[in-house]
Amino acid sequence: MTKRIRKAVFPVAGLGTRFLPATKTVPKEMLPIVDKPLIQYAVDEAIEAGCDTLIFVTNRYKHAVADYFDKAYELEQKLEKSGKHRQLDLVRNVLPEGVRAVFVTQAEALGLGHAVLCAKPVVGDEPFAVLLPDDLIWNKGGPGALKQMADHAEANGAGAIAVQDVPREQTASYGIVATDDFSERSGRIRRMVEKPSPETAPSTLAVVGRYVLPAGIFDALEKTGRGAGGEIQLTDAIASLLDTTQIDAYRFRGTRFDCGTHLGLVEATIRFALDHEKISDAARDSMARTLHELGVIDLD
Ligand code: G1P
Repeated sequence: MTKRIRKAVFPVAGLGTRFLPATKTVPKEMLPIVDKPLIQYAVDEAIEAGCDTLIFVTNRYKHAVADYFDKAYELEQKLEKSGKHRQLDLVRNVLPEGVRAVFVTQAEALGLGHAVLCAKPVVGDEPFAVLLPDDLIWNKGGPGALKQMADHAEANGAGAIAVQDVPREQTASYGIVATDDFSERSGRIRRMVEKPSPETAPSTLAVVGRYVLPAGIFDALEKTGRGAGGEIQLTDAIASLLDTTQIDAYRFRGTRFDCGTHLGLVEATIRFALDHEKISDAARDSMARTLHELGVIDLD
């Protein structure tokens, strides 16, 4: 597999029950980190990596995601008339020119593997990316995680899966890989297990939601039965390819925020606020004062 990826799949059909009541009407992918919805960070990362076709696997409750990527004629006209060019750019750049969004529906919530399989008719016979928007990855001043992985995949003729080290007691929350020796950042995956218990986990290298996969994954998914949690798991389909296909674990540069959890979402919000072009100083002061009031730090 040496072709450059051009297509990116975003599974966004989950119910987001962990964030109720916010997610009663707002899909979790639309929750903001300061002033951008979560999904926009993943979309920007995919575009930076060279993708021009973005495939959203959604369900009937996720109109807000499709609306968000649609052109907002009236709003754009109003902003143009009132000379608000900066805001106009922000609205237009949600989806830059030359990038198209395609929506496919996942009628039943049968798991991540099933969601990816729903994108098969649009992806066709070429390598592609999968990005789970819950995982927000920030590599300040450097290339995004998917760009790093796409470069690695292209150079090595391999698939690539983002990994990070986790404490052993957390293995049951992740796909876990076992690899050949790591050379700097990567190693060929030999085993992959979805959410193993700490006692049975083959390592503590955990899968983070970025994948560069060969088109062969679709055949594998079609043959994959229900796995962990009774769902069709992407991990199981990838595992079935490992004997014949080189797929590398790739330890990306950057920080990952697990925005599928309350704490992760808050951490990302704080980190991005502290770095935000408009509010960083004020955010820093505000946080320092709060920590001082709580007795965590001493400002005197
Ligand atoms: C999914 C994958 C898992 C991966 C995780 C990363 O799990 O199935 O292998 O480690 O994303 O965020 P989920 O968190 O959707 O249960």
